[in-house]
Amino acid sequence: MKITVIGAGNVGATCANVIAHKELANEVILIDIKEGIAEGKALDIWQTAPVNMYDSRVKGFTNNYEPTAGSSVVVITSGLPRKPGMSRDDLIATNAGIVKSVTENVVRYSPDAIIIVVSNPLDVMTYCAYLTARTDSRRVMGMAGILDTARYRAFLAEELGVSPKEIQAMLLGGHGDTMVPLPRYTTISGIPVSEFLPEERIQAIVERTKKGGGELVNLMGTSAWYAPGAAAAQMVEAIVRDQKRVVPVCAWLTGEYGLENIYLGVPVVLGKNGVEKIIELKLNDGEMDLLRKSAAAVKEVCDVLDGMKLFA
Ligand code: LAC
Repeated sequence: MKITVIGAGNVGATCANVIAHKELANEVILIDIKEGIAEGKALDIWQTAPVNMYDSRVKGFTNNYEPTAGSSVVVITSGLPRKPGMSRDDLIATNAGIVKSVTENVVRYSPDAIIIVVSNPLDVMTYCAYLTARTDSRRVMGMAGILDTARYRAFLAEELGVSPKEIQAMLLGGHGDTMVPLPRYTTISGIPVSEFLPEERIQAIVERTKKGGGELVNLMGTSAWYAPGAAAAQMVEAIVRDQKRVVPVCAWLTGEYGLENIYLGVPVVLGKNGVEKIIELKLNDGEMDLLRKSAAAVKEVCDVLDGMKLFA
């Protein structure tokens, strides 16, 4: 089994490190466009193997996709990260071309790979990879919801003074300020979060979650990597181990939630075939309204992509 991570920046390298550490494949390939970066980071990760006691072989290559041939799963992290003051959508002009050309190379060597996109603006870059790959939509997806719910769960764990392991949560919508965390589907070991916290505290945590990525960009001058890398690796794990995890994933909608022809975050069953099922929750009017607004925000950026005529 071979897993490839494209982009050896902070997110890609972290993702490869987690994949290797969890021994999700015997071969982990890291690719970057900058000379020596993927080779160096792969070598550094590989040198943790004797310390961390794993045997997944990690190898890096500069802009050479031949060694990626026959990958089962490919994670695409290529593109520029945000700087303070930028929204994820500001990245589209640069990142669309990058994601398109990377995806072309990926499918040339691994036509059967399941593709997980991590590049921003996430929902639209996933759409871009899908338009490029021209494959079954269940096999092209984006990573955002696991990261966004992880932030939400971490904030709740901190607020409540309980283990983050006990917090289950679901979230819908795009990976941006319009994302829709769902307190009604948030529990602490099965107990509704509303039994623990007053409405205004929950709302404050929801708002912090929506801007969770921006909080980190402001602190570090660039976007986050530990949680994004680990979240993408969790999706890889669900697929290669056929775990049937129920997680929020950016998936292609064909009428679910009354939405179609759009990539958006929804709960799915994730297994060896990729997105094996999209779960439709019964939303109340307020939740549905927020989801529609989020879809409209994502659609606006999709229209910018369409206007770039990359796929004419
Ligand atoms: C974030 C970036 C990776 O949310 O989108 O941190």
